[in-house]
Amino acid sequence: MIILGIETSCDDTGIALVECDSPSPRLWRAKQKCRILSNIISSQIKIHAPFGGVVPNLAARAHLKNIEPCLKQALKQAEKVKIDLIAVTKGPGLAPSLLIGVNFAKALAYQWQKPIIDINHIEGHIYANWLNNPKIEFPVLCLVVSGGHTQLILMKDHGKYQLLGETRDDAAGEAFDKVAKLLGLGYPGGPILSQKALKGDSSAFDLPRPMIHNKDYDFSFSGLKTAVLYKVRQNEVGPQNTEPFQHVNNMAASFQQAVIDVLIYKTIRAAKQYKPKTIILSGGVAANSELRKQMEEKINNLGIKFQMPDIKLCTDNGAMIAAVAAYKKKPVLKRNQLHLSANANLKLVA
Ligand code: KG4
Ligand code: ZN
Repeated sequence: MIILGIETSCDDTGIALVECDSPSPRLWRAKQKCRILSNIISSQIKIHAPFGGVVPNLAARAHLKNIEPCLKQALKQAEKVKIDLIAVTKGPGLAPSLLIGVNFAKALAYQWQKPIIDINHIEGHIYANWLNNPKIEFPVLCLVVSGGHTQLILMKDHGKYQLLGETRDDAAGEAFDKVAKLLGLGYPGGPILSQKALKGDSSAFDLPRPMIHNKDYDFSFSGLKTAVLYKVRQNEVGPQNTEPFQHVNNMAASFQQAVIDVLIYKTIRAAKQYKPKTIILSGGVAANSELRKQMEEKINNLGIKFQMPDIKLCTDNGAMIAAVAAYKKKPVLKRNQLHLSANANLKLVA
C-alpha cells in the first residue's frame, strides 16, 4: 500500500510517498516495514528570517503556493502514482498553516476517491523512528522535543500513549530559538546556536537547570532563557557581532548543555521508574548533534535500547505523517472527507 503524507503544521511544506507492507488500509500488520519513496520538503526560512520567527499568515500563503509543486515532485521522484491512502496533519500547529494541508488533502481525496486519515503531528515525530527501525520494542519511552512541544510520553503499544510530563512554559526548541535571538544569531535559531556551541566551552557560564530535581516529569525552559538575558544585559555576552566573539560561542555551548542536562536527567529518571525496553528521541531538537551523542551514550550505559530518527527526519516532514498511518491499528478512515477539519490545539492524550 502507498500512503501520501501531507504536513503543513508550521513553516515546512512536507509531501511524501511511503510504501508499507500492508496490502490495504484495512489489513494492518504490526511488524511491517515502511519504505520512503519520496520526501519533499519546501522550507520557508527566507520568508520568515526578516521577522525573526514564523509569521502564521505568510506561512499559510507559502504553503498554498508550494504544496502542489511539492506533490508533483514527490510523485515524480517516487515513480509511482497509485496512492491508496492520504494521511494529513490535523494538529497541533498554526491554524492557517494546518488548514492549507487539510483542505489540500480533502481536495485530493475527493478527486481521487481515496480515504483520508488525520494525524497528530506529535505522533508523526514519534513514528519517524519506525521509518528507521520497524522492530522497536514496547514499552517505549519517548522524549519529544520540538519547537512547540517538550513531552515525555510512555507508549505501551502502537497508538497507546501516557503523558508523563511536559513543559510548563517554553518548549526546548522555542528556548533555543529565543536564546539565539538574544545572542543576535538570527533565524532559525536552533541549528545556528548548535553550530556556535561546537566552538564554545559549555562550562564558561553557570546557568540553571530548571526543575531538574522536581519529582514530576515536567520541564520549564523560560527561566533558563531569562538567565541568558541577564547575562546579555550585564554585558557578559553580547550579540554575535560585538567582541569578544568567543563569549557567544561559550554562551551557546553553556545554554545547550543546560537544556541537554535537564532532558537527559528527566528521561533517565522516568526510565528507572517505568522500565521501558526502548527509549526514543524525536522532534526538531533531536537534530541537535550534542543531544544525540550524549543521550545515546547515557542510555547505552543503562542497557536500554536507544532509537532516534535520521537527522533529516527529525524536523517536520510528510514521511513521518505517512508512517503514523501505516502503523495505526484499526484506522478511522474518513469516508465523508468534507467534515475533516484542522485543530490547532489537538492533544495526543486527552
Ligand atoms: O519539530 P520541528 O521541525 O517543528 C515543530 O514541530 O516545532 O522543530 C523545530 C524546532 C525549532 O525550534 C528549531 O530551532 C529546533 O527544532 N531545532 C534545533 C536544531 N534543529 C532544529 N534545536 C537545536 N539544535 C538543532 N540542531
Ligand atoms: Zn514538528
